[in-house]
Order: sequence, then structure tokens, then C-alpha cells
Amino acid sequence: MRSYLIGVLLVVCFGATSVAAQKVAIRVAPQTDAPQISRHIYGHFAEHLGRCIYGGFYVGEDSEIPNTAGVRNDVVTALKELQIPNLRWPGGCFADTYHWKDGIGPKEDRPSILNIWWGNVKEDNSFGTHEFLNMCELLGTEPYLSANVGSGTPQEFTDWIKYTNHPAGSSPMPDLREENGREEPWKVKFWGVGNEAWGCGGNMRPEYYADLYRRFATFATDWNNSDGLVRIASGASSSDYNWTEVLMKNIPHQLIEAIALHHYSVIDWGNKGPSTEFSTEQYFRIMQQALRMEDLIQRHVAIMDKYDENKKVALFVDEWGGWYDVEPGTNPGFLYQQNTMRDAMVAGATLNIFNNHADRVKMANLAQAVNVLQAVILTEEEKMLLTPTYHVMRMYSVHQDATLLPLAFESPVYTFNGESLPAVSASASVDEEGAVHFSLVNIDAEKVHTIELDVAALNLSKVSGEILTSAALQDHNTFEHPDKIMPKAFTKTTFKAGKIQLEVPPFSVIVLTGTK
Ligand code: AHR
Repeated sequence: MRSYLIGVLLVVCFGATSVAAQKVAIRVAPQTDAPQISRHIYGHFAEHLGRCIYGGFYVGEDSEIPNTAGVRNDVVTALKELQIPNLRWPGGCFADTYHWKDGIGPKEDRPSILNIWWGNVKEDNSFGTHEFLNMCELLGTEPYLSANVGSGTPQEFTDWIKYTNHPAGSSPMPDLREENGREEPWKVKFWGVGNEAWGCGGNMRPEYYADLYRRFATFATDWNNSDGLVRIASGASSSDYNWTEVLMKNIPHQLIEAIALHHYSVIDWGNKGPSTEFSTEQYFRIMQQALRMEDLIQRHVAIMDKYDENKKVALFVDEWGGWYDVEPGTNPGFLYQQNTMRDAMVAGATLNIFNNHADRVKMANLAQAVNVLQAVILTEEEKMLLTPTYHVMRMYSVHQDATLLPLAFESPVYTFNGESLPAVSASASVDEEGAVHFSLVNIDAEKVHTIELDVAALNLSKVSGEILTSAALQDHNTFEHPDKIMPKAFTKTTFKAGKIQLEVPPFSVIVLTGTK
């Protein structure tokens, strides 16, 4: 049996043979300097890709689909329910081809371009800076603008910052904003300095990108960054540790507030497998990829710690999620996929990993919000459905800005064809009102696991809960049956002598709340 320490005291054991469900004893280990779980870990991503923006978020003011300034009301209501803390835009790969000045001013004067990364479709720029930032106000969310470095200039970058953030009358860019109908600046805090610079963002070497980053970041703000911008360096792909090392070493830390990481759960880029009709083996492989996030974060953080022991620079996992073959008959460039209980497992387990690394992981963005990859919302003309991933995000929203409560436990294993993964994942937090939240995931495709939570130290007297599960891993919501998978109240807990006991069914997510 091999065991290792996950993040703050979460101990998971591998290699034990598991023949029957075993009791998992979870101990709460309060810690005086435990970090806050940044609400931004529950962030989202909207790219000009397929039907994410057009049809997903934005239908235009003349649409018969109920909208506010062209943005779908049903989507706004659903995302507000999630309390989405931030939204990253306009890409992705699209960002490094995007020239923001194409998307301002009268729509009839805006030039069209071809979206070369995503299906070579016409992009008419009818959704631009004003439409996006006003939509963020409608959603009550913080914008995260991902700026063009690959084919842009520092001038274009700094002009965008002035256009969105500087007071009217201070220079030509804010004046232009005023001419276009918006006097007050939006005050955008989060700025991505390019995207995937190692790939679609310019196929750069890390040394070259680090120099370019220094140049772009210099002109974003003043000497002391008195605007409080969060400048985000384009980060590594999965296990490219050298990328993180070179950036951390070569970028002066007064020029950088965060470094990104992208990791998708993909079986094989050439043969990703279907989003619904997958086999148990394909399920296991995806979970292997999703749980790799733990090791990836540990190793990228270890490099960051070497150069930044005070954790000034945050890690933003600003693209993550499951990536499968597109739905049959849909445009391969649109990345439209269904979303099943497998995705609920990916979301639940990944969010637990982020929570448990809250001291360094300060933001994460699920790819993507609507109609693309592991979406929380799917739309079809006027219809909309909420996916199992949406429900997990809603259940976990209780952790936003709460204080991490470290947990210690040994997970039983989920074994498939002689290979093992930890079956149970968990994280916990205590919110401002003193309520304690536990998110528990059992990824085992067959076995129930009994969990005993030792909460004696917390003086709780009541517990309530919600569960998300279904009859089959492949189950999903459809436009005909949008409520097949919905969270339900979970009352099957026994609470005695400071211990909460419950059975967690196969492939299910449970969130418990304990109060005094
Ligand atoms: O999310 C889809 C694409 O995946 C993004 O555009 C890119 O950054 C990543 O490769």
C-alpha cells in the first residue's frame, strides 16, 4: 500500500485490494491559518467558439427568445443561481486572433473576420467589449479579459485597458468609450496576457514568451500596479513543468499576479470517445485524467514555491474539464458535447482538489459555460437545459469564499482491470455564519462506500444534505427530459456522538451542511 499526502492533510491510499465496501473514516483537522477558498475557483469561460456566445449567451435584441440587450434571460437566471464569480472571454485560441477594436462602435460598421480556429465560420463582431462587459454586469460577475499577445501589440493591449478602465476625459481611449455610449469605466481587474502561448497563441518557447510577457505587462499599469490589476501569464499545458519553471524564474514578480495552467480530461486526442455511449473503461480513463489534477497542481506549486515561497503569484487553472467527441452530426469545430453523470464525477472530484489547494489555486475556469465542452448549460433554439455539471457547481457554491477545513482520511480504491484510483474524494469549509459544508464524491462505478465524518471538534447539532446521482453513469439531461438528473434532498445520515455516518452510492456527489 502506497500513501501520500494530498494538499492540506487529505490522505489517500492506493493499491489495497477492495472486495467489499469499507468504512471511510474522515477526520476534520481544523487549522488556524487555513486559507479562504476563493470564490473565483468556481469561475467560467466563454469563447467565440461554436454556439457558446452566439445562440448560447447572445441571441441579439431582435430575437424572439426572451433577452436583455440580446443576452438570453434564461441563461442569465441560471448562471446567477450559480453565483458565477467570473467569466473569461473572448478565448481561448480565439483570443490571440481577436482585435478588440473590431468589436466596438455601431454594429453595421464592425468588420467581419473568419474564426480560423473554430470551424472557419464568419465572426461578425456583433458581440464585442460593450456587449460582454454589460453582460457581466447583468450576471453580477467579474470579467476576465484574455488579451491578444500572439498577433497583437502592447499598444493594442494597453489601449484595451484604458478603454475599459480609465476615467472619461483622461485620454483618447476612454473618450472613445464615451462616444460609444458608456461613460463609466467597467474597471476590469483580471487580464490574461495571451493564451496557450506554447500552442495556438503563437507556438512560442517559454523563454521567448517570458520576455514578451514582461514587455506587455509593463505597459498594463504603473510602477506599483496601483490599479490593482491581476496580470495572468499564459501557463503550462498539463505536465509541462519546464514552462512554469522558466516563467517563474524569468518574470520579475512585481510584474505578475498569476500564472495559468490548462488541463483537460481526454483519453486520446485522436480518439476521444463519445460523450454519452462510453464504456466503463472509457469512464475509468477519464477519471484517471481528471484525478491527475492533484499531481499536476502539487508539482506546478512545488516549482512556484521554489521561486515564490510567500505565494504572491497565484495559480489559475483557467481551462479544465472533460473533452470528448462532438455529438454526431454537429460541426466538429464547434466542440458541442453532451454531459452525463461522468461529468458530474469529473466536476465534483476536480473542485475538491481545487478547494484543498486553496492556498495557491485562486481561480479556475471550467471549459466552457454554454454549448461547448463540459458545459453547465446547453441550448437548442429557445430551449435550455442544465447539465449534471451545473448541478454540482450549484451544490458546491456553498464553498465560495468560505474557509477551508482540512480533512484527513484514507480512501478506498476503485479498481478496474487491475488499475486503481482513489474512490472517495472530499473537501470541507466553514462559512461566515459558521455553517460547515462537506462535499463528498464516490467515483466507484459499482460500490457504495460508507463514510463516517468525525465532527466532534465542531460542535454541530444539525445536518442536512443534497445528493446528485442516477441509475447509470451515462445518464444525462435532454431537451425532452431536462430534469432527469436533479439534486435531491439527502436525509440518510445518522448523527450520533459527534459522528455523521452515511452511505455514498456509486457515482454520486453529496454535499452536507452542518450547523450548530
Ligand atoms: O476550450 C477550447 C480550447 O482549448 C481553447 O480555445 C484553448 O485555449 C484550448 O486549447
